[in-house]
This record gives sequence, C-alpha cells and structure tokens, in this order.
Amino acid sequence: MGCNGLLWIGRVLILMLLVHEVVGWGKDGHYTVCKIAEGYLSEDAVAAVKELLPPSAEGELAAVCSWADDIKWYYKWHWTSPLHYVDTPDFKCNYNYCRDCHDSDGHNNSCVTGAIFNYTSQLYSAYQGSNPQSNYNLTEALMFLAHYIGDVHQPLHVGFLGDLGGNSITVRWYRRKTNLHHVWDTNIIDSAVKTFYGSDLAIMIQAIQRNITDSWSNNISSWESCGNNRTVCPNLYASESVRLACLYAYRNATPGSTLEDEYFLSRLPIVEKRLAQGGIRLAAVLNRIFSTEVKIAQA
Ligand SMILES: *[C@@H]1O[C@H](CO)[C@@H](O)[C@H](O)[C@H]1NC(C)=O
Ligand SMILES: *[C@@H]1O[C@H](CO)[C@@H](O)[C@H](O)[C@H]1NC(C)=O
Ligand SMILES: *[C@@H]1O[C@H](CO)[C@@H](O)[C@H](O)[C@H]1NC(C)=O
Ligand SMILES: *[C@@H]1O[C@H](CO)[C@@H](O)[C@H](O)[C@H]1NC(C)=O
Ligand SMILES: *[C@@H]1O[C@H](CO)[C@@H](O)[C@H](O)[C@H]1NC(C)=O
Ligand SMILES: *[C@@H]1O[C@H](CO)[C@@H](O)[C@H](O)[C@H]1NC(C)=O
Ligand SMILES: [Zn+2]
Repeated sequence: MGCNGLLWIGRVLILMLLVHEVVGWGKDGHYTVCKIAEGYLSEDAVAAVKELLPPSAEGELAAVCSWADDIKWYYKWHWTSPLHYVDTPDFKCNYNYCRDCHDSDGHNNSCVTGAIFNYTSQLYSAYQGSNPQSNYNLTEALMFLAHYIGDVHQPLHVGFLGDLGGNSITVRWYRRKTNLHHVWDTNIIDSAVKTFYGSDLAIMIQAIQRNITDSWSNNISSWESCGNNRTVCPNLYASESVRLACLYAYRNATPGSTLEDEYFLSRLPIVEKRLAQGGIRLAAVLNRIFSTEVKIAQA
C-alpha cells in the first residue's frame, strides 16, 4: 500500500490505549462469522485450512476465530492490539487508508485493514506465488485473517478516534451499565440469542444462513467480489462499517443514554447482516488464496 500526502496522526494517552477495544466482536460474533465462512469454502480451501489449523482446532476454523483476541494481552503479542480496529476522524463518517491506517504512535499500516492486507499477502504469496517457502507462520496468518475480517465488519471497529470507537461512550443496555462499543461487540448478539433463538447460538447462525440462501441470495456475488480481481478489499469493508456506525451505532446513543427495545430491534438486522457479510467474504478471500486453478492455468 503506497500512501502519499501528510498523515493525520492522533496521539492518545497510553491509558486510553490500554482500555481501547476490550474485545472485538465478542466470541459469539467471531464464531458466527467463521461458522458461516466454513459453509462456503471451496474444496481446495477446506483442504488448505485443515492443514494450517493448529491441532487444538480439531479441524474447525470457527474454533480459532477468537485466538487473536485471546493472545493480545500477552506481552509478546502486545503489538497486535492496534490491528483489531481503525479509528477515523470524528463525525466525518468516512474512512481513508492513508489518512487513518496507523496506530497511536504513528506507525503506518498498523490497523485492521493494514493487517488484512498483510496476512492475505503472506498466505497468497505462499500459495499462489512461485516460491511456496514462506518466512511467516501461516497458521498464525490464517487465524489473524479470519479474526480481522470479522472485526472490520463490526461498524464500531471503524468508529471515531475521539470516543475510541464507542468505548468511551457509557450507556445502559436495558438495566446494565456498559459502553457503546461493547453493545455492538456483544450485547446485541447476546440479547438476540436469548430473546429470539432459545439461548442457542447455533439457531441464530442457522437463521442467518437461511437468509443468505433466501433474502440475500442475489446479493452474495456482489459481497464476494472485490473488483479488478483483487484478492481482498478491506478498504471497502471499512468504508461500509463507518457509514453504518454513523447511521445506526452512534445515532440515538449519546453518552448516558439507555438503549432498549427500540434500539435493539432496529440494530439487530444490521448486526446480522454484517455477520453474514463477514462470513461470506472470509470464505471468498480464502477460496481465492487457496485456489489451485490459477496455478494449473499457468502451468
Ligand atoms: C505514513 O504515511 C503518511 C501518509 O501517507 C506519510 O506521509 C508518512 O511519511 C508515513 N510515515 C512513515 C513513518 O513512513
Ligand atoms: C505483518 O505480519 C507480520 C507477521 O505476523 C508482523 O510481524 C507485522 O508486524 C505485520 N504487519 C502488519 C501491518 O500487520
Ligand atoms: C505457528 O504458530 C502457532 C500459533 O502461534 C504455534 O503454535 C506454532 O508452534 C507455530 N509454528 C511454528 C513452526 O513456529
Ligand atoms: C441486495 O441487492 C439489491 C439489488 O442490487 C439492493 O437493492 C439491495 O439493497 C441489496 N440488499 C442487501 C440486503 O444488501
Ligand atoms: C478477472 O478474472 C476473470 C476470471 O478469472 C478473467 O476472465 C478476467 O480476465 C480477469 N480480469 C482482469 C482485469 O484481470
Ligand atoms: C433476514 O433478512 C430480512 C430481510 O432483509 C431481515 O429483516 C431479517 O432481520 C434477517 N434475519 C436474519 C436472522 O438475518
Ligand atoms: Zn478483535
């Protein structure tokens, strides 16, 4: 990614950095994205993913989709914590890679979209390049990619710098005190599972899968495609997210407000659609990375 022009660098207190983005989509959100992706993987991708997954995954991609969250508190992995999100200028409601993709110390490409490019290209060069030897741990690359493609679809992972993607907006979710970022990572999904899906995440996943094959079936190919045959297009996903953040996440969720049925019921369809898009796109990217057709055609 080449970037020209002066970058606007936001510096926030170390303390704020430490409290920023406590989770990501919660465990359930990431599990859902990866479970949906599993259903759309090509034969080639299924085989490659199986080889790369750590033994603890027992062959299931969804089992390691929160790995990137689990490790980030270890000192060794501390450098990965800015890779779960990208902050955008307050109230602009747009995203620009060169302007926004850096961490609070000004390191370029250190953000969720930079990480998606990074891990996609590590995998792509190993599987589609002329030299299959990689200097990278491709198991980690796969686990990072599967996680960050989920994160970039959470609207508030592309939120405003001034409120740390909603982390510093304290709200109530029904009776309970929380923050707006957490509402979108976790509370909306939790409440939906309890209220509509008999406390069973699998039922919610099935409902989303049904929508993919019914109401959204005509939209799938446009979700999958990146234009110009690119392998992945995180800038598009991030632009969609910040737009949704402005239209739905921040709207009527000012500091101190109580969010209840009206907010929950109107935002849940957005969350479910983003989980679906995250899953479909993760599968599409992995299918392109692991496709053996290109190689055969070139041979
Ligand atoms: C980071 O990117 C900005 C914007 O493209 C550029 O102006 C700046 O020189 C880059 N910084 C470094 C350290 O490369
Ligand atoms: C790219 O991945 C490598 C290996 O994990 C890492 O060392 C590097 O910091 C990553 N860069 C970005 C921008 O994610
Ligand atoms: C690759 O990364 C995984 C997860 O961090 C680790 O368990 C494994 O030992 C690494 N493989 C190599 C060859 O370093
Ligand atoms: C699906 O695609 C149609 C036609 O392109 C569009 O009008 C509609 O907004 C899309 N729906 C969703 C849920 O993205
Ligand atoms: C994109 O891919 C399609 C199918 O693989 C191919 O027919 C087309 O020529 C490619 N377009 C570009 C611009 O590379
Ligand atoms: C299914 O799609 C419809 C129409 O877009 C939407 O209203 C509903 O909330 C969706 N349900 C799920 C589970 O995604
Ligand atoms: Zn995350």
